[in-house]
Amino acid sequence: MSAATDGASAPAPGASGGVGAPILELEQLTAGYDRAPVLRGLTLAVAPGEVVALIGANGAGKTTTLRTISGLVRPMGGLVRLDGDDLAGVSATARVRRGIVHVPQGRGIFFGLTVAEHLRLDGLRDRTAQEVAFEHFPALRDLAGRRAGLLSGGEQQMLAIARALCRRPRLLLLDELSLGLAPVIVERLLPVVREFASTQGTAVLLVEQHVHLALEIADRGYVLSHGELVASDSAERLRADSALLTASYLGERRA
Ligand SMILES: Nc1ncnc2c1ncn2[C@@H]1O[C@H](COP(=O)(O)OP(=O)(O)O)[C@@H](O)[C@H]1O
Ligand SMILES: [Mg+2]
Repeated sequence: MSAATDGASAPAPGASGGVGAPILELEQLTAGYDRAPVLRGLTLAVAPGEVVALIGANGAGKTTTLRTISGLVRPMGGLVRLDGDDLAGVSATARVRRGIVHVPQGRGIFFGLTVAEHLRLDGLRDRTAQEVAFEHFPALRDLAGRRAGLLSGGEQQMLAIARALCRRPRLLLLDELSLGLAPVIVERLLPVVREFASTQGTAVLLVEQHVHLALEIADRGYVLSHGELVASDSAERLRADSALLTASYLGERRA
């Protein structure tokens, strides 16, 4: 396994990727359910402006990792740090106030509310929040009055990401944006996330089943297998390691 600190590979132009003290640090994190750990000893870091992909087969522990960072699952061991501060004992709500925004698997969209109403949730009543959303996803402007239940899957996912971006997160956690979406749609959504991280300095931890698409916009990636870290490298080098990526899809351990 190569060093996890290699953030220097192919940052986007103008990106601050990999520079500066990390926003998020996990140190020997162990977490699970009903006292059975599903995540064991995970150490990783995400710096300002970096997009980091978390890769692994179904059941590897990716969602559990994001839920532990956002405070929905309590660690059994190890640390979650935000800007150097240990978050033990900090509630999920307080973590949101500190800038952790989590877009869960399943989007968190309310079918009965319009696009504009979604952008006014979370206490974001000022117009700048809407403008931030429309700036990143111009297509949403024309859909402002439409109920979310009538949007396509891709448009709903755009709205879910837009909602997250308007909150100007310090750390953005994205769990399987692509669930149920065609790859061509994912190809359009991911560059918006990349651009946002690079220009706003947000740290992004991205879980994505379309691993190759994720690694095209990510700076670095970590590969989980059965709750343990099996590799971490620059996105470029991970993309080139097709044996590792195939194993990560299948959930195999590497020899
Ligand atoms: N709420 C839960 N209660 C008990 N076990 C769970 C729960 N959620 C997930 N698990 C188990 O934890 C393991 C990791 O799940 P998860 O983090 O969702 O993996 P991934 O997101 O990588 O597919 C799986 O074995 C899964 O069955
Ligand atoms: Mg998951």
